[in-house]
Formats: sequence, structure tokens, C-alpha cells
Amino acid sequence: AAQLKGKDFLALVDYTPEELEYLIGYAIELKRKQKAGEPHPILAGKTLGMIFEKSSTRTRVSFEVGMYQLGGQALFLSKNDLQLGRGETVWDTAQTLSRYLDGIMIRTYEHRKVIDLARGATVPVINGLTDHAHPCQVMADYQTVLEKKGRLRGIKVAYIGDGNNMVHSLMMGASKLGMDFAVASPEGYMPDASVIQQSKENAAQSGGSLLVTTSAREAIENADIVYTDVWASMGFEAEQKEREIAFANYQVNEELAKYAKSDYLFMHCLPAHRGEEVSEGVIDGEHSIIFDQAENRLHAQKAIMAATMV
Ligand code: CP
Ligand code: NVA
Repeated sequence: AAQLKGKDFLALVDYTPEELEYLIGYAIELKRKQKAGEPHPILAGKTLGMIFEKSSTRTRVSFEVGMYQLGGQALFLSKNDLQLGRGETVWDTAQTLSRYLDGIMIRTYEHRKVIDLARGATVPVINGLTDHAHPCQVMADYQTVLEKKGRLRGIKVAYIGDGNNMVHSLMMGASKLGMDFAVASPEGYMPDASVIQQSKENAAQSGGSLLVTTSAREAIENADIVYTDVWASMGFEAEQKEREIAFANYQVNEELAKYAKSDYLFMHCLPAHRGEEVSEGVIDGEHSIIFDQAENRLHAQKAIMAATMV
């Protein structure tokens, strides 16, 4: 716990299994306190700056409300308002903001920019999504799985769809937490080879496993958790049409879900495109836990902030 003070939260690769388990446990504790109405002003008087270069509903609101519940406050900083948008360097921005703020959350395109911001900042930097990773989402997701299934070790997660930021963080997290992970993506849309390699090594250590395939049917076999995400992420909207063709056989629907466990749970980070990556029947059906995940963004991020910014 104490050793997380001052640490950045950029990608799950930087965290040990013990640290991830600690943060999930802390999130569950903070959730209980919030539900019970017990004040927990761990970050009283502190301020988080939130830089957004992409749209957001969940991330923006959950970070802002989370800081408020921790006794602090959050500032929404859009790219258009910051001098960063007019060419001020990442380094100068990081140095300057560190003189005012106790933490910085950033959502942007290139992962490199977040790493550079963290290098220039003297306060913790939290990744609120890049093209490469979405680690806050996965902390909320695995908290949700733990709450629903009672354990993470030995749970099988199947991710069907684009080899994007979501699957990178889901795979990295699962491999550290001893989970079985299977991903099915079409040729040309596979996850990063380096993330696959690192996750394989982690899984060998943690007792988890990793399967990478082009077959949705093979990946979903016997899954406890079925996860998907949009086919065209933010920044890739221009490829929507060609992606609809490439991903035509990768929709999570009732037919495909037959091969998962009968008590499988459906997850999606949201926002979703009903009728594309997932059928209406599945996402709005009895297996879906999408809003429990969304809620846990609040609790998971409060734990991350409370641990690193205290
Ligand atoms: N899942 C997620 O990060 O949602 P937003 O884009 O709405 O923040
Ligand atoms: N993969 C999606 C996730 C949105 C939360 C995107 O990057 O747009």
C-alpha cells in the first residue's frame, strides 16, 4: 500500500500481481464505505487535473465524482483550452501542472505521450485511455468479476473482436492475476505481439493461460466471461466500413454464446454499438453486467487515486 504512494498508473505491466490484488481489495473497501455513507476524505484538499483529448462519459464523470467523494476536487482540462493544444510541450505542461496539482489523469491517442507526461511530472499520472491501453477500465472489470464469481484465479475470460487498447489491458491483467484468457480477432486486427509475449510470460508465472486465435468459436468455448468492444475505436472512425466487413463473423450473439458456460457473464467497457459487436439480446439480456462494470469505474479509480496521491 504505502509503496504505491507517488507511483504512476500508466499500464498494468508496471504493477505486480500483489499490487493489483491490493488495489482491487481497496476498491471493494471504498465501495462498501460509500454505500454505507461512511465519509472517507483520504484526499482532502487535493486536486486532480483531467486532460481529455478524446470524448468520455464514464471516465470523466467517475474520476470527478471519485475525487469529490475522497474529499478533494477535480479539474476538467480539454485539449482546446490548454496551451498543449497550441503546441506547448508535454514536458513544460507536466512541469507546470505539477506545481498546482496532486495528480494528473490523461486520455489521449499515443501511449508515448502519457509516458512522456509522467516523465515530466512530479505528481502521479493516471492513464485514462490511450490507443494502446485502458488500465482503469480493467481494474473495474476484474473487481466486478471478483464480486460476481467470488474469485479470479481459474476464471476464463474470452475476448472477441478488435485487438485494441481494451484487450491489451484485459490480457495483461488476466495474465498477472492467474486467469485463463482467450482472444479471437481477425487477421490484421490481432493484439500487439509484444503484449501477447509479455502476457504469456506472466501466465506461466501466475498459473494462468493465454490463447490467441482467429476463431471466435474456439475462444469462447467454456468461457466464464465473454467480453467485446467496438470494432472502430476512437481515432479509427474512418475505418468503420472496412472494419464492419473484417469483423462480420465476430459478433457476440446468442448463437455464439451457446458455447460459453451456461452461467457466463457478458461484459463491455461501453460505449457499445448494438447490432455490431454484440446483439441486442446479449447486451440487454440476463447475462449482461455492463452497468456493474461502469459503476465500478468509480470505486476502482478511487482506490488508484487514494493509493497513489495520498
Ligand atoms: N469505458 C469508458 O472508458 O467510457 P468513456 O469513454 O465514456 O469514458
Ligand atoms: N476501444 C474503445 C474503448 C472506449 C472506452 C476506444 O478506444 O474507443
